[in-house]
Parts: sequence; C-alpha cells; structure tokens
Amino acid sequence: MTAKAKPAGITSLQQEGRVFKPSKEFSKGAHIKSLAHYKKLYSESVKSPDKFWAKQAANELVWFKPWKTVCQWKEPVAKWFVGGQLNVSHNCLDRWLNTPHANKAALIWEGEPEAPGKAGEVRTLTYKQLHREVCLFANVLKRNGIKRGDRVMIYLPMLAEAAVAMLACTRIGAVHSVVFGGFSAQSVADRIFDCQAKLVITADGGFRRGSVVPLKRNVDEALTLKDSQGDRLAKTIEKVIVLRRAGNEVAIEEGRDVWWHQEMECVDAQCVAEKMDSEAPLFILYTSGSTGKPKGILHTTGGYLLGAKMTSKYVFDLRDEDVYWCTADVGWVTGHSYVVYGPLANGATSLIYEGAPNFPEPDRFWRIVEKYGVTILYTAPTAIRAFMKWGVEWPKKHDLRSLRLLGSVGEPINPEAWLWYHENIGGKRCPIVDTWWQTETGGIMITPLPGATPTKPGSATLPFFGIVPEVVDEAGKPVPRNTGGKLIVRKPWPFMLRGLWGDPQRYKEVYWSEVKGCYFTGDGCRQDKDGYFWIVGRIDDVLNVAGHRIGTAEVESAIVSNPKVAEAAVVGRPDDLKGQALVAFVILKTGVKPEPALREEIRQQVAKEIGPVAKPDDIRFVEALPKTRSGKIMRRLLKQIAAGVEIKGDTTTLEDINVLAKLSQAEE
Ligand code: WT7
Repeated sequence: MTAKAKPAGITSLQQEGRVFKPSKEFSKGAHIKSLAHYKKLYSESVKSPDKFWAKQAANELVWFKPWKTVCQWKEPVAKWFVGGQLNVSHNCLDRWLNTPHANKAALIWEGEPEAPGKAGEVRTLTYKQLHREVCLFANVLKRNGIKRGDRVMIYLPMLAEAAVAMLACTRIGAVHSVVFGGFSAQSVADRIFDCQAKLVITADGGFRRGSVVPLKRNVDEALTLKDSQGDRLAKTIEKVIVLRRAGNEVAIEEGRDVWWHQEMECVDAQCVAEKMDSEAPLFILYTSGSTGKPKGILHTTGGYLLGAKMTSKYVFDLRDEDVYWCTADVGWVTGHSYVVYGPLANGATSLIYEGAPNFPEPDRFWRIVEKYGVTILYTAPTAIRAFMKWGVEWPKKHDLRSLRLLGSVGEPINPEAWLWYHENIGGKRCPIVDTWWQTETGGIMITPLPGATPTKPGSATLPFFGIVPEVVDEAGKPVPRNTGGKLIVRKPWPFMLRGLWGDPQRYKEVYWSEVKGCYFTGDGCRQDKDGYFWIVGRIDDVLNVAGHRIGTAEVESAIVSNPKVAEAAVVGRPDDLKGQALVAFVILKTGVKPEPALREEIRQQVAKEIGPVAKPDDIRFVEALPKTRSGKIMRRLLKQIAAGVEIKGDTTTLEDINVLAKLSQAEE
C-alpha cells in the first residue's frame, strides 16, 4: 500500500481547511438547493437503488420499450434496465425536434486557425440541423457496409463532425471506438485489431497549435502495419471515410477511401433510429492499465446514457440558457460523456473548440468565454496550472462575467490551482465542482453539487446519487477517517463499464479481485472527518501526466523495442505543471554508448509506438535497476530517486544494495 495521506503537489494550503459555501443566490436557482436536499436524495438512492434508478430512467430517457428488470447483478457482470429498448441519438436529437429546443444551438464549434485580426471559423448547429447531419451520415455509414454491432473507429480532430460521427453510429447501432488524434499509427492499428473494426472515419488533417496533424497519413500507415507473425493488424478495415478539414494533401486509395462530403451527397436525410437493447454495446474506449496492452473499456446503452444525462444535469446544474463548454477532446471519456452525450441528452448548448489554449496567444480560452458568453467551463487542473504560469494578465483582458460555474477533472487539483481558478476565472462568485471519475465509471462519481455542497479546495467532496465509494485497507476493511487507503465502490451503478472488450478474465482480475465483491478504482484516497473524499492519485502502475492516463508498462515496452536498449523502467515524479512527469531509467545493451542523441531517439520511438503524449520527460541511462531477489523492479525506490528525495523505507529485499548508490549518481 503506497497511498499517502497527502496528494502529490498539495501544499500547506490543504491544512488551511477553508470551506466555500454555495452562495444563496446560486442555491436558489439550482436543481439541488441544499446539503439536506442532497443528503435526503442520496440516502433514498442507496437505500432503494432499484426504485431510485427506475424513477430516474423513466423521467430522463425516452424508451421505445420499457425494461423488465432494473438491475441484474451477477458479479462481476451488471445488466441495467434489462429488456428495455432505446436509442442514444434519438434521446440526444429526435426528442428535441418538436419542442422549443429544435432551433436552439446544440453545438457551437470554433476552429483553431485565425487570420491576423480575424476571428476563427465558427459553425453552429441547431438540434434540427444536427439531427439532419446525423441522419445523413448514418446513411453514409450504411452505404459503406456498416450494420448494427459493427465496430467503427473514429480518428478525428475536435470538430462538430466528431459528434456527428459518434451519434450516427449510435443511430444505427454500430459501436464506436474513438482514438485520440494525438495517438500514433501503431496505436490506431492495435486498437483496430483488438476490436476488429470494419471502418475508419478520419480527416485529412487537424490543426493543433498552428500546425497540421496528418491524421489520414497515420491511418494509411496503420493499415499497413503487421504483427510479429507478419499478419496485417488492420485487415478487418474495409472502408475509410475522409473528412476534408486541413486541406493538406492526402493519398486516396480507390475502392477503400471515400470523401465525407461526396458521400453525404449520395444519401437522403431519412434514417430511423434503431431500437437498441439497453445492454447493447454503445462504445469501446481504450485506456491504459498496468500491462503493456491498453484495455478496451466497454459501455452499453441505457445505463450509460442515464448516467451521462443525470450527472450533467445535477453536477453542472444545467439550465436551458446555459452555454456549456467542456474543453476535453472527444478522444477521452470526458469528451464522450460531457461534450457529446450528457449535454445533448439534456438539450443543452455544447461548445467545441478545435485547438490549443494558447493559440495564437494564451488568452484564447478567455476570448472564447467572452465571445459566446460561456456560463459553465469544465477543464483540467493541468490546463489551470498552465494558465497560472502564463499569467493573470491574459484572463484579465476579458470579460468573464458570463461564467457561473467552473469544473475540474482528470487529476487531483492542488489547492493553489483551485484558488487561482476561483479568483481569477470565477471572479470569486462561481462554485467549483472537482469531479472524480474514470473511463471505467462512465460518468462522474464523487463531486460537489454546486447549489448544495460546501467545497474544500483539493477535495472532490461527496458521492453522486446511488454511488457507494469507500476507503479500505489491504484486507478490504473500511479504514478510520483521515487514514489513507484504497478507493473502492461497493455497489454496481448504471453507468459502470460492462467489461473489457474480448477479455472477461482481465476485467475480473483488474477490477473485481483486489477487494472482494467491490469495484477497485486503482486510486488511493482518504476521507476526512466530514466524510469528504480526498483522492491521492493512482496506486497502481498507471500515471496521470497532464490529465492523460499512461501505463508505465506501455512506455517501457515501447522503449525496449529500440534495439539499443536492454531494459527500461518508467516511473512518475511530481511535476508542477503536468501533475506527474515520466522518468525512464534505461539500461543500454553492452557496447552502446549513452549518448545524448539517444535520448531523443528513444523519445521519438515512444511517440511512434504510442503517441507524443507518452514521451518521457526525463531519460536516465543506468547500469542496473533496483530489483528484489525474485527479480521484481522496486518502483518505490525508483520513484524516490526520480523525485530526488531521500530514499526511505525498507531496502532489505533489494538484491544488490550497491545499485542504489549508482542510480543516485546517474542523476544529472
Ligand atoms: C483517473 C482516471 C475522469 C475522466 C478523465 C480521466 C484521476 C480523475 C480526478 C479528480 C483526482 C482524478 C484518477 C482516476 N482523476 N479525476 N477530480 N481528482 N483524481 O479519466 O483517463 O480514466 O483517468 O484520473 O486517478 O483514476 P481516466
């Protein structure tokens, strides 16, 4: 157990213990108006979960056919709203058509490039327009051979078309798997292989900080990559749909590649939403675990959508007049639940921005807030810390008074960043919701409700309705308050993952074997005297670098694929900006000189195997790694060396004590 009581990067401010109560004014207009109101609903939700969720599912979603059983739980397999039928795109689009929402902006999109003195490209899609686009594109998918249950890979920049593609899949019952545009050709190929996708949707290129990311070229390469037996990884791919975005030159392979805009002209705008079983697979999203192979997290239809809708409504306190902006990329689960499905299921206006927060200058976000009158902003601590570094003069240039609520997600937010966000972005008037959840949980699990929960900077506070998190010790027993332990969830919830694509055994081992009968989160946590949850961060071999989840084993395997490398161990060290930075300890093969150029070569190799997000920040060439007599790398010691702190704890299991002295010397 390595969880410590204090989250990395959190300073003395934590002891300050300030509590921020929701303002009367905010509470008055909120869905949940007081802590007592929250507590009452929460207690009902956990005392009679079936009753609670049944009522919510009936109120929030449109069902084609009612369910027979609310929850069927046969550990570790959960089924929710069994027998019920619905369609996600119907719930996000069609249901708003004959209402006053029809002509409301569903999506507001702004592109990254701006000519000097000229604003970026803008596109607004009303619910009616988005519905039409989705119907057209669903017919394009059908025309290109996609049927119910088929897997479709989406590898697109942050464009309205990414949402269109996702919704079109759900409309015809195809299962999408979105891959973040920052991942490499190899990652695309591995994921296609794992889920046996039939079709890829991509763009010629995407804009990022002024340059063009050649997405189509990566797809072309992915489609040629082979496994160790010489078999093509992506041989299940029959078609590639290419969206024109950046205008860069691309190769088009006759018979395989088709243009989005040309296909859209060949179809009509009638497309009935398929009646899908509540438990029909909705999407697969790959995320890192503690082995070299990413896990395909599977979410299904009814329970997931209910979670996305309810959490959006209550956590962001959504109202009809809001302009809501979640800055996450659709390549992450946050983009799924809180850019696309949650807001649209609520009939909200969701803003999508294509590019980087500091392009062309560090005030881009604040200009966007001002320009569209954004009322709710949901972003990551790593971004907030970057804004702090860039200086308060950038937000100060803009009128941010439209904001009424701020959110944070992805990693623990240190109190300094929290307070900076509160003062400089929220003008001391906006509640901050620090939301803890995971790709696996599908939606927000531990969070303040902004009109009800007093907040403490650095704490995600209390569980959402129906969620029963607990902090337990090695033996799975609840620990006393203010004691560190493992964070688990006791009961199944509707929006939990349903498994790992094609790997039920691993699903059981990773999530349901650590603590008997409970879902294991992989996070360390403590609860304070008020029952507030303070997440410490991962306690497995998963790192959180700038809000991106990265498996150390994946990076290690990318590094050792370099023929000059004999062995590698990757650990995290605290980083002011990114939360954690990646440090790689690398042993070179005999005779290979530890030249500085080799560091760059290794970094490039990782970018190629996984993607630029996983490039190590620090590469240290060493002669040996600290190992136990049974040959297990002692990461605990490496972490201390990487952080430059004194080595503490037991070193008696170390096979060769001299290794430590040498490692410390290897630091530059
Ligand atoms: C891991 C999940 C949640 C969607 C985006 C990331 C960390 C997430 C918080 C928070 C402290 C947090 C955890 C978690 N995390 N939110 N508010 N406070 N830690 O999803 O890539 O699946 O990563 O992110 O360590 O396990 P993900």
